[in-house]
Amino acid sequence: MAETRREFLSSSIRVGTAMSVMGYPALASGQSSQPGVAATADRSAKPLSILILGGTSFLGPHQIACAMSRGHSISTFTRGRTEPSIHRGLFRDVEQLVGDRENDLEALHGRTWDAVIDNSGRKVEWTRDSARLLQERVDLYMYTSSTGVYYPYLGSDIGESTELVLEVPGGIDQEQSGEYSYGVMKANSEIEAGNAFGSDRTIIVRPTYLMGPGDGTDRFTYWPVRLDRGGEILVPGKSDDPVQYLDIRDLAGWMIRLLENRTAGTFNAAGPASATGMHAFVYGAHAAFNSAASFISIPDYDFLREHRLFYAVPWIMPTGNNAGSARINIQKARSSGLTYTPLAESIKDIIEWWHSDSVSGDRRENMISGRRLLMAREAAIITAWKERG
Ligand SMILES: NC(=O)c1ccc[n+]([C@@H]2O[C@H](COP(=O)([O-])OP(=O)(O)OC[C@H]3O[C@@H](n4cnc5c(N)ncnc54)[C@H](OP(=O)(O)O)[C@@H]3O)[C@@H](O)[C@H]2O)c1
Repeated sequence: MAETRREFLSSSIRVGTAMSVMGYPALASGQSSQPGVAATADRSAKPLSILILGGTSFLGPHQIACAMSRGHSISTFTRGRTEPSIHRGLFRDVEQLVGDRENDLEALHGRTWDAVIDNSGRKVEWTRDSARLLQERVDLYMYTSSTGVYYPYLGSDIGESTELVLEVPGGIDQEQSGEYSYGVMKANSEIEAGNAFGSDRTIIVRPTYLMGPGDGTDRFTYWPVRLDRGGEILVPGKSDDPVQYLDIRDLAGWMIRLLENRTAGTFNAAGPASATGMHAFVYGAHAAFNSAASFISIPDYDFLREHRLFYAVPWIMPTGNNAGSARINIQKARSSGLTYTPLAESIKDIIEWWHSDSVSGDRRENMISGRRLLMAREAAIITAWKERG
């Protein structure tokens, strides 16, 4: 919580990669114990062949679980480095193509699929090249974008037609430039997908912060872990500071249904269903546990800044360029079938996964005592807040 937004985005990517080799016995057999999958477990009327660019990290395995339960067949395309940490048993029935989006798309040549899901887009050129290569051989291109395309988040009800920043502005320092670069990359990648496939064959999905079993970022997971421990819990921000998040399984199931229904277009992907403030989120999440807790609300942004507490996802200090980061309009997604797992259920599933063999003891320990992380700094911040009177 002491990082800048840029460090925070890049560190979460590093952590995601490092954690991906861990097992997850409860889900490794391919059995589904997930609400997100159970809700969509009926078989689809028309089985699809789906290529996932990526597919072995966080979102991919959940998409695969949902798609297979509905009768679809899956190919993945990766460098073969990242091992899935969840739903590992399902990968026996996945065609695993190997290459590199940087310079080796050979494995995709001459092949046909009904749909491609581009999960691993990290460069505009990657999406441009794969979309151009596949435009004649695949019906639908689904690009996994991000609400990051709306940075700077200046609106109070950010809809899909909001004009996007397509170039990092000049005259700003390196740190500020880093804040723009992810959204600018995603926005231009969306355009490349659309240029190749056309508006009636392109599906753009812009998720907010994702959470759920298998999350390698340890961002949202902070809250289930912290609330389970009980005691004096620091809650940063004002009671009504808006928060948004989405259970990865809800996202995965909905993306597969969009493909089945051939629903082209651009969609925000955020929850929960109703506008929610930070306090309502914390109380609702704590309802999943028996721990005795008292909540120390610190609504003073200046004090939080002094203590370098700018975010505790899903809370992001809603000021400046982040004022609207949790004010993403979800009407279009909802009317296209996005549904939500109840918060307490998501929280329980996350904590069960966190204490499974999928997560190493070192990683669990780091969440609690990692020097720069909030849990280790929390007591000192609370003391300073109380002393301030
Ligand atoms: N997590 C969130 O809160 C959040 C929020 C909004 C949007 N998103 C978006 O959601 C998408 C999915 O995220 P994710 O965490 O599941 O996956 P990810 O980290 O974006 O992608 C990892 C996958 O890409 C493959 N890959 C990486 N480099 C490659 C290369 N050069 N060539 C071919 N394959 C490569 C990896 O396998 P190998 O290592 O084996 O190659 C792995 O399967 C991302 O586009 C992300 O931006 C995430």
